[in-house]
Amino acid sequence: MMRLSPFFALLGCALSAVAAPSAPTAAAALPTSTAKVSGLHALAKQAGKLYFGTATDNGELTNQPYVAVLNNGQMFGQITAANSMKWDATEPEQGVFTFTQGDQIAALAQPMGRLLRGHNCVWHSQLPSWVTSSNFNAAQLTSVIQNHCGTLVGHYKGKTYAWDVVNEPFNDDGTFQSNVFFNTLGQNFIPIALKAARAADPNAKLYINEFNIEGTGAKATAMKNLVKSLKAQGVPIDGVGLQSHFIVGEVPTTLVENMREFTALGIEVAITELDIRMTLPETAALLEQQQKDYQTVVAACQAVPGCVGITLWDFTDEFSWVPGTFPNMGAACPWDANLVRKPGFDGIVAGF
Ligand code: G3I
Repeated sequence: MMRLSPFFALLGCALSAVAAPSAPTAAAALPTSTAKVSGLHALAKQAGKLYFGTATDNGELTNQPYVAVLNNGQMFGQITAANSMKWDATEPEQGVFTFTQGDQIAALAQPMGRLLRGHNCVWHSQLPSWVTSSNFNAAQLTSVIQNHCGTLVGHYKGKTYAWDVVNEPFNDDGTFQSNVFFNTLGQNFIPIALKAARAADPNAKLYINEFNIEGTGAKATAMKNLVKSLKAQGVPIDGVGLQSHFIVGEVPTTLVENMREFTALGIEVAITELDIRMTLPETAALLEQQQKDYQTVVAACQAVPGCVGITLWDFTDEFSWVPGTFPNMGAACPWDANLVRKPGFDGIVAGF
């Protein structure tokens, strides 16, 4: 769909007023951002947050207009690697570590003093087959996790604000995901990974990151119980990541209450993978609702002192993971595929 800036939209109206009435109109113009701000990270800092950031991926870094926005330090003060620090990318064969891609992402943060979030040490997805198919016993898998987390976190020691040490351990009903880690070690895989990460970089904040725990409910409760149990055992845990892959019009109504319950456990929270998808095609009404939804999410983080920052799961629809995963859905980001800022951008501004 065609998107016009307000000026061109007005011009279009003026021209269409004099155009022949029979001329078919092109796709309706979609609204764009009107906010005049230097950057979202600058706003987040003014609002007392640590950062506003984005995920990015290596293949995107050849796109110069994209990189120009990405490298605006006023806009993004924090970077996450969308893929290149995951297990399949960093230890594709047992004991063979490859950090070239991850280092390229880390290098985007460092020279500008931006924060890096490490993503991630232990996840059942994007896992090389040697981990899943070797029939490791409990002792072997323990040492596999220790070696992976220790080497990965150790490689980025001193360069990382926080690590998603464990990613997505729960099912939506609050039971543990059935995967090679849980099936071999039970819940123990979590303390094993957290302790290895702490030993490798004592200054990195250690997170468990999850989706569908942004509002209260069975899955959020399971995460709170896990945090309590880890703390009771003296296992290091500093934060919970609320991924926040939302749907337009369906943002949970209990964001603030839920974040307060998490932070009351003595940990911080962060919004780690924010995007708000819609059923295509984009319409002005959907974009308006998306603007409100972005504002709701940012305002919720703003209302909770222990919510330290917000990360977009990439900032442009050009590189969003959504269309590849959800048929007929997309337009989830605050910038469109041509890097034009959408009303959602203004929602973020208004939320701070
Ligand atoms: O690297 C290969 C490339 O060699 C191949 O040619 C190409 C063909 O499809 O695939 C490439 O791998 C893709 C990879 O992204 C890198 O682009 C995978 O197919 C694709 O499945 C993978 O998707 C990633 C997804 O995690 C995997 O689950 C997304 O980019 C990434 O944004 C997404 O991120 C996750 C978070 O880690 C955890 N939370 C949910 C979030 C969204 O799914």
